[in-house]
Amino acid sequence: MTSATTIQPTPHDATSVGSRFLDDVLRGLSARRKTLPSKYFYDAEGSRLFEAICELPEYYVTRTETALLVDIAPELAAFVAGGAALVEFGSGASAKTRVILDASPQIDVYIGDFTGVLELPSAVQSRPIVGFFPGSTIGNFQPAEAEDFFRRVRALLGDGALFIVGADLAKAPEVLLPAYDDADGVTAAFNRNLLVRINRELGASLDVDAFEHRAVWNEAESRIEMHLVSSRDQTARIGSRAIVFIEGEVIHTENSHKYRPDAFEALVERGGWRVKTAWTSDAPSFGVFLLDTEGPEGIVVTSPMNVESSRSGGTS
Ligand code: TRP
Repeated sequence: MTSATTIQPTPHDATSVGSRFLDDVLRGLSARRKTLPSKYFYDAEGSRLFEAICELPEYYVTRTETALLVDIAPELAAFVAGGAALVEFGSGASAKTRVILDASPQIDVYIGDFTGVLELPSAVQSRPIVGFFPGSTIGNFQPAEAEDFFRRVRALLGDGALFIVGADLAKAPEVLLPAYDDADGVTAAFNRNLLVRINRELGASLDVDAFEHRAVWNEAESRIEMHLVSSRDQTARIGSRAIVFIEGEVIHTENSHKYRPDAFEALVERGGWRVKTAWTSDAPSFGVFLLDTEGPEGIVVTSPMNVESSRSGGTS
């Protein structure tokens, strides 16, 4: 690990988190097509199960991205200016972050999970900024949300910033499906744990064993969907409500979009960024995209603080 200073933003406001959870769950399960928000996957057990997923032979995503980052780290590092601040979005990616930091000793400051943060700490505002969003978490957003996310990150990081984004790429369903429905049932346990959490934290009466995990490849939307399928007619009490499930009814819990590189580039551009360089792994294909900002005339806009930066070749 490098000697980069680490800054953690203040935790998000925790007041009324419980009732927000209940509201979100009831809203999702009251819809004609039932859904649950995937952000609630990651309680302690969910985080443990996700780490186990990352070790599965079927789940190629994490190890493919890490290996690709190791391969390209020296090339990435060559784009990073001296005194830069690395701003990470999302969490749980410390091994990938370490790959970047170890290859880029010129990074002076590393800032942890920036999801939802609207302003950079003043200590880094004058530095060259490099955003980092690994894990193909971008694929868990709807395309319109992803575009919005790119636009907000563009506003946060500012003109002249770089943004390193990892995105899993479209490939044969024969490779994709097992990655989201492994033989040991770890992904199934991860998906069902959402119901376990609802029971525990909201005092609900869902029969967890009466829901089956299912992964579906949605070709039209180019995404893996995770579903929980009710194996019988059942009624669950959640808060003050009775929620009815008929046999075969689906709760849609997650999407993992798998982009083609050209579609990803178009998305990035709608969000105000430009693909400066893209690297793709050998099969199973995973993409790391280095984005930069571009002015309306096709000129890289460099903020006054960054004119000393060693970044070069920016307008090609
Ligand atoms: N972004 C990763 C992916 O889509 C991680 C992830 C989110 C995931 N939800 C998941 C992995 C559910 C397995 C199952 O692959």
